[in-house]
Amino acid sequence: MAKPAKVLLNVPAIKADFPILRRTVRDKRLVYLDSAATSQKPKQVIDATSDFYSRYNANVHRAIYELGEESTREYEGAREKVAAFIQAKSPMEIAFTKSTTESINVVAYGYGLKGKIQKGDEIVGTVMEHHSNHVPWHFVKDHKGAVLKYVDVNDDGTLKMEQYDTLLTNRTKIVTVTLCSNVLGTINPVKEIARSASSTRPRRLRTCRSTSRAWMPTSWPSAVIRCSARRGSASCTGSRTCSRRPSRCSAAGR
Ligand SMILES: Cc1ncc(COP(=O)(O)O)c(C=O)c1O
Repeated sequence: MAKPAKVLLNVPAIKADFPILRRTVRDKRLVYLDSAATSQKPKQVIDATSDFYSRYNANVHRAIYELGEESTREYEGAREKVAAFIQAKSPMEIAFTKSTTESINVVAYGYGLKGKIQKGDEIVGTVMEHHSNHVPWHFVKDHKGAVLKYVDVNDDGTLKMEQYDTLLTNRTKIVTVTLCSNVLGTINPVKEIARSASSTRPRRLRTCRSTSRAWMPTSWPSAVIRCSARRGSASCTGSRTCSRRPSRCSAAGR
């Protein structure tokens, strides 16, 4: 007899975490598909948010009193959990932003406008991106003289993968692509694209929604994550996310 298939995703258990999915809309069970725009929250997130505002809401990294220390600890603890969850090498790789658009703008600003992109350097996107993954690169083009290149789509909505071979050159600095197109529903072979982009010495950027990914050759995240606590002050956690090198931080390892 064939072995029963291994269940990788326990959908009923996951659904049970989302209180909103218990409601009905026009006498029908709610089915929610607009997650890229606004994601619904599981009970654990709702409870943690309520707990935060009910018990220790205070400035993170900027308050030298007990509530501030607690909120800082929770904030940095979340960074460590996220890093472990996505198997990042270090929590220093995790930058919290409020949206996909902001995440991409931070990279376009830090790496593109103020960073290493030079006139004639190339950014390779695709024609199926959401505008949050187009507009920031147009700014880089206008202000730094970067060249934008686009991979086209086949009639069936899949990417013309063979175009990567001709579009990727030694001037390619960024390769950016949506994992799943909100327009076409196409799920792109991002692993394969990452492998092709590897020839341009890439680093990977993951945004919170996993809608867009970019690969590039330097480690920008450490440049945008800063610990603003005064070293040795009460709000200094000695966290590895401090912008100072841990070896130079008197609080490190406390
Ligand atoms: C497919 C897709 N990607 C990206 C975004 C931008 O996301 P955010 O609102 O987090 O900036 C949206 C927003 O609706 C979206 O639908």
